[in-house]
Amino acid sequence: MPRLIFVESDGTRTEVDVPAGKSVMEAARDGNVSGIVADCGGALACATCHCYFTDDQAASLPAKSDTEEDMLEFANAEVRPGSRLSCQITVRDDMDGWEIEVPDSQ
Ligand code: FES
Repeated sequence: MPRLIFVESDGTRTEVDVPAGKSVMEAARDGNVSGIVADCGGALACATCHCYFTDDQAASLPAKSDTEEDMLEFANAEVRPGSRLSCQITVRDDMDGWEIEVPDSQ
């Protein structure tokens, strides 16, 4: 089972073992990562599951949908090239060990 490591802005690191097929947002929620709010529960309607992926990680992810692009405009924190809405990212086995940065606000 892949293990994701969420790194919050205060340096808090939370490791979460998550089955492939769940979303990154669900992994954060299961791990009680406080910086991922996920108000809409994954309906792509809130942008409070925003997180930052590295360039290499982002390059391996499916492209953003137009709706995700639009919703990212409502993100509270700075939007970077590696910004994604984590409810839209499905966990894969090869993500094991990924460190995922959580913005300082949602
Ligand atoms: S949980 Fe609301 S957009 Fe991802």
